[in-house]
Amino acid sequence: MTANQNPVTTPFSAEASAAEVIEGVDLAGRHAVVTGGASGLGVETVRALATAGADVTIATRRPDAARALIADLSAVEGAGRVRARALDLADLASVDAFARSWRGPLDILVANAGIMALPGLTLTPYGWETQLATNHLGHFALAVGLHGALREAGGARIVVVSSGAHRGAPFDFADPHFARRPYDPWAAYGQSKTADVLFAVGAGRWAADGITANAVNPGYILTGLQRHVDDATMRAFGVLDDEGNLKPLPYYKTPEQGAATSVLLAASPLVEGVTGRYFEDNQQARVADPADESPGGVAAHALDPASADRLWTYATTTLHAR
Ligand SMILES: NC(=O)c1ccc[n+]([C@@H]2O[C@H](COP(=O)([O-])OP(=O)(O)OC[C@H]3O[C@@H](n4cnc5c(N)ncnc54)[C@H](OP(=O)(O)O)[C@@H]3O)[C@@H](O)[C@H]2O)c1
Repeated sequence: MTANQNPVTTPFSAEASAAEVIEGVDLAGRHAVVTGGASGLGVETVRALATAGADVTIATRRPDAARALIADLSAVEGAGRVRARALDLADLASVDAFARSWRGPLDILVANAGIMALPGLTLTPYGWETQLATNHLGHFALAVGLHGALREAGGARIVVVSSGAHRGAPFDFADPHFARRPYDPWAAYGQSKTADVLFAVGAGRWAADGITANAVNPGYILTGLQRHVDDATMRAFGVLDDEGNLKPLPYYKTPEQGAATSVLLAASPLVEGVTGRYFEDNQQARVADPADESPGGVAAHALDPASADRLWTYATTTLHAR
C-alpha cells in the first residue's frame, strides 16, 4: 500500500493554531531543535513546543534575535528551557559544528528555516544555488549530523517545512544549480521545496531507528520570507496596496495558524508512526493532478521513492565532494 492510499486525517481545520493542535500534549523531558526559530513561523513553532514542556534549541544565524522570545517563554509556567545556538545552513562548517556539539537524544527536529525567490542566481562558496543549499542541502547535512541523537531518542520525529511552490518544480538532477538553464527565482525555490518533500520520503530508510519524517506546506502567511519579492510581484499577488501597505488575503493564515501543521507533526499522538507524507492544513494532502492549477495538494514528483533515493545519493555525494 502506498502512503496515499490511506490518508491521515485529524480533527483540526486549516484555522487551528499551533497551540490548539497539541493541547494536552506533555513534552516535558523532550528535546527539540527548530531551525529559523527566531522569526516568522519558527517563533510560533518554538512557542508551542516549549509551552508544552519541551526543551527547545533555536538554531539561527542570529542568536540575539531570539532574546525576546526566550525571555517571554521563560516566564511561562511549565515551559521547557529555550536557548539559541548559531547555525548557518548555507555554511557547512557551521552545520557540522552545530551537529558535533549536540549532546544527548534529540526527539524533534523541525527543519523550518528557509529563503525564497532570490532575484538573481546566488551561489554559496561551494558553488551551490543558495536556496537549494539552505532549504535542502544544509538541512540534509544537519539531519545526517544529528542522526545518532535522533536514533538515541527512540521515536524521534523530523518535520521538513516545504511549500506549495514545490508543485511547479520537479528536482532537476541534470542541472540543480542552474549552470546551464536560465535562472528563475521561483523555479529555484520550488525545486528546493520539492527536495524538502523528497528528503522526508527518503528518510524512510531511518524507520528502523524509530525516526519518522514528514513534510509540511504551512499555507500563505506574511512573514519575513517575502523580503526578496519585489513590490510589483507583491501587488500582483494582491497583498500590497497602492499605499505600500501589506494586506493578507482572506485565505492567508496568521503565524500561529501557519505553524500548526508543523507542530502537529512534531508532537501530536494523532500522527504517531506516520512517515514519508506531506501535510497541509493539518491533514495529509491529496496528490494533485498536474493539470489542476488550483493551489494545494502534493505533486507526484515530490513523493516518488526513486527520486527520493536519487536525491539522497546526490546530496550525500555533493556534501562529500565539497
Ligand atoms: N510564509 C509563507 O507563506 C510560507 C509558505 C510556504 C512555505 N513557507 C516555509 O516556511 C518556512 C519558514 O518561513 P517563514 O515564513 O517563517 O519566513 P521567515 O520569517 O523569513 O523565517 C525563515 C527563517 O529562516 C532562517 N534562515 C534563512 N537562511 C538561513 C540560513 N542560511 N541558516 C539558518 N537559518 C536561515 C531565517 O533566519 P535569519 O533570521 O537569520 O534570516 C529565518 O529565521 C520556510 O521554510 C518557508 O519556505 C512559508
